Amino acid sequence: MINRDKVTFLKTEIKKPSYEVLCEAAELIKKGEVVAIPTETVYGLAADAYNPEACEKIFKAKGRPQDNPLIIHICDLDMLKNSVKEIPPLALTLAEHFWSGSLTMIFPKKDIVPDTTSGGLDTVAVRMPDNEDTLNLIKMCGVPLAAPSANLSGSPSPTTAQHVYADMNGRIPLIIDGGECKNGVESTVICFTDGGTGIKVLRPGVITAEMLSRFAKTETDKNVFAKPDENEKVISPGAKYKHYSPRADITIIETDSDGKLAEFLNSKNDGGTYGVIFGGEKGIEVPTISYGSTAQEQAHNLFAVLRKTDELGAKRAYVRCPEKTGVGTAVYNRLLRAAAFKTIIL
Ligand code: TXA
Ligand code: MG
Repeated sequence: MINRDKVTFLKTEIKKPSYEVLCEAAELIKKGEVVAIPTETVYGLAADAYNPEACEKIFKAKGRPQDNPLIIHICDLDMLKNSVKEIPPLALTLAEHFWSGSLTMIFPKKDIVPDTTSGGLDTVAVRMPDNEDTLNLIKMCGVPLAAPSANLSGSPSPTTAQHVYADMNGRIPLIIDGGECKNGVESTVICFTDGGTGIKVLRPGVITAEMLSRFAKTETDKNVFAKPDENEKVISPGAKYKHYSPRADITIIETDSDGKLAEFLNSKNDGGTYGVIFGGEKGIEVPTISYGSTAQEQAHNLFAVLRKTDELGAKRAYVRCPEKTGVGTAVYNRLLRAAAFKTIIL
């Protein structure tokens, strides 16, 4: 008998999407395997959402805690209706405006969604990704695909097929290479409040609270920017882990002053220190990496830049704090966790 725990793939293939490659991926998924897929946010590690053994392989490949639930990816509203018990009218309005796209909504789950997929919760998170190849793949599979970000648990999310390969080589058979992800940060995760008439943002993304508030009263969960207390029960289990971290020690630097930033970084000039800056700041003597001057650019580049600090052998990186409004909230939320909340205000 095959011992499933011992099955590893000596070689992980990276293939550009074509009809043949999507067929191959669908066959693997139908057999209960895990395939990395491109989406407009970050790459996902996908398996048949209705197959608990297949989803267990996702947790194993990532080294992810079993209580952290997976998002299921659908290609049409029938898949939503098949997977969840109740759909508030507000959810349909949001789906109409934001799907296919980077909005994940949480619903009470039907029994067809196994507990393995939902991390033991009686709810399930659902989104329709904005990537034609992945939508076609979901259609070919005929079932939703459960997919967390395709990084090792705790590492920065992957925004290229090469990032996925760096983390998953030998752990999965196939990576579909759809190029660089457009957004660069994961989807906005929301749940419904007030009997389905209100919105609570659990994880910010490029679909902002401001955009959602045009449709309903919208609040942002306090754990988006705060460190949850040790034993606190959080609504979104992903909020409680240190996350998105490269090997380099990350600290956030909050300042309005280019001069103070340069002075601080120069005082840390020991060869292992890097500055992650907006770009164009003057007088800095330590090596720097720019992650962009607008929130959109910063969202697009953040994870790639965090991975870059490791490639460069940085021991520590000081990252200039993004704006805390609009898309900047998504960047700030990821950065807080990458830095395990360490912040210096200058
Ligand atoms: O953009 C994305 O959302 C990417 C791509 C691949 O779609 N996926 C992604 O998945 O970021 P993951 O597993 O890395 O993050 C999912 C987040 C976690 O913080 C998890 O705790 C939360 O969503 N989540 C999932 N299901 C939930 C549920 N039923 N209730 C509360 N939070 C949930
Ligand atoms: Mg993730």
